[in-house]
Amino acid sequence: MAKILLTGGAGYIGSHTYLALVEAGFEVVIFDNFSNAKPDVPSRLQDISGDAVHVIQGDVLNRDELAAVFDAHQIDGVVHFAAKKAVGESVEKPLEYIHTNVGGLLNLLSAMDGAGVRRIVFSSSATVYGDTDVQPIPEDHPRTYTSPYAYTKIAGEQILEQLNDDWAVGILRYFNPVGAHQSAMIGEDPSDIPNNLVPYIAKVATGDLEQLAVFGDDYDTPDGTGVRDYIHVEDLANGHVLSIKSLLETGSSHTVNLGTGEGSSVLDVVRAYGEACDQDLNYKIAPRRDGDVAVLTARPTKAKEELGFEATRSLADMCRSSWAWVSGQRRNSK
Ligand code: UD1
Repeated sequence: MAKILLTGGAGYIGSHTYLALVEAGFEVVIFDNFSNAKPDVPSRLQDISGDAVHVIQGDVLNRDELAAVFDAHQIDGVVHFAAKKAVGESVEKPLEYIHTNVGGLLNLLSAMDGAGVRRIVFSSSATVYGDTDVQPIPEDHPRTYTSPYAYTKIAGEQILEQLNDDWAVGILRYFNPVGAHQSAMIGEDPSDIPNNLVPYIAKVATGDLEQLAVFGDDYDTPDGTGVRDYIHVEDLANGHVLSIKSLLETGSSHTVNLGTGEGSSVLDVVRAYGEACDQDLNYKIAPRRDGDVAVLTARPTKAKEELGFEATRSLADMCRSSWAWVSGQRRNSK
């Protein structure tokens, strides 16, 4: 079976993708610097999968460490998650974002080229579409950036688009990944106050934070709050399996949205999460957040046509799995 290198494989999406790849029969090597992953993730992955987890602690900014991985392992393809992902922080530290996200990708591509490995799945984001009224968004919509983070994703896509036909590249544009693994043993675990909606709501549900601020109720949407295309992280993980399989089997590239195609408002999510945790969640309406758009939803048909990808889990599933993970963690830490 093919052997896949997962950079950033101990992170939120990476760890779920690890399990989906192993379940699909791949051999997987994780390469992660643990800057945004808990040290116990590998042992949790081992407990869930029942097999030893191969982890290398290393950094995509270190060319020698990358080269050593390709020397030590016969890698067939790479899924590249290792990158920085906070929009707000990217505005504060643009050079760090460009250095890690673009420089790290270049290092990786050089190491891959040196080893003759030319199959790569790249974590991109719906952020590359910027602020647009075209909803749901098709993949051929022009790209534009509204933050250094978004810039690094567009730059990454453009670099990959320069590669010749020896390469096969899967560019996956994620919408809003939420939820946790069905085992409730891995999930999103921000150590600071979360920026994103579902992790924030989760901390209101546990009592760690008092109240959710709903950023704006005067958007042109059914209930006035922002609408997003939330996708269960296990569905997203399966999208990566289909993507790398397609690259290995066909040798041709693809760029696809990974979303459900359905929009949920902030208040829809608050309600669904409230049902999952059986509480009335405390929220207030607050001013709009800078840089937010009213609606962002995927046109999901290309991923279905090209990869056979279809998200199957509902918003209720996303909230229930998130709550199972978050409440379980809390019980264990007491
Ligand atoms: C954000 C990023 C996006 C990234 C995605 C990862 C920005 C501008 N965009 O998307 O690039 O790919 O996370 O998941 O940061 N909301 C509240 N209260 C909160 C938090 C959020 O009302 O405390 C609202 C937002 O206004 C928005 C929705 O919830 O309408 C979703 O927000 P969030 O989870 O932060 O994701 P995005 O902003 O869509």
